[in-house]
Amino acid sequence: MLRFVQIENFRMLAAHHVVLAPMQLLAGPNGSGKTTFFHALRFLSSLQRDGGVAAAVRELTPSFFDLCFDRERPIAFAMGLEVARPDEKPAALRYEVEVGVDPRGGGRVQVLRENLYLLPGPEPTELSGRSGTPLHPILHDEPPRGWLRLLWKTHEGGIATETSTPAISSPSVWARGAPR
Ligand SMILES: Nc1ncnc2c1ncn2[C@@H]1O[C@H](COP(=O)(O)OP(=O)(O)O)[C@@H](O)[C@H]1O
Ligand SMILES: [Mg+2]
Repeated sequence: MLRFVQIENFRMLAAHHVVLAPMQLLAGPNGSGKTTFFHALRFLSSLQRDGGVAAAVRELTPSFFDLCFDRERPIAFAMGLEVARPDEKPAALRYEVEVGVDPRGGGRVQVLRENLYLLPGPEPTELSGRSGTPLHPILHDEPPRGWLRLLWKTHEGGIATETSTPAISSPSVWARGAPR
């Protein structure tokens, strides 16, 4: 279950987080960002598909820069997920992704950084409280205390997995259970 979303530099959402209840009503005046929030979720979802960044952008707009609040900066998202596990407490995951122009040149828009963390508690609570401005940065290159990095994007563009912990050799750990 999706528990929270952090959004930075996506259209009018310059820096925002939304905490989600199991049943959530989204209400607000015209232009307050309701559609933008759904487009952020759609963009995040499309990023995971085969077409990657280019297709995810194209679904919403012809130009990546239309999606940016500040065209000089990347777009960043984090999601807090509660994952059910049979006969165990749910596990909490945090997925972070940053999309922007390749800083090495060439102008290509790509995933710049990407991390998947297993959080210490059963709930992704580090963003508890009311929705509003984010409480801390979206991307964590180094895991804060108690967080375990499961997957991340390497400098070469591949995906690395944490292999030093035997129980964490593949994403199927979410279903199997986390180390204690
Ligand atoms: N790249 C952008 N940067 C800043 N604001 C933007 C950007 N793209 C769209 N907007 C603004 O976001 C607002 C649209 O919000 P929207 O999500 O459609 O609101 P709602 O669905 O609640 O009516 C408009 O005021 C629009 O000008
Ligand atoms: Mg709307």
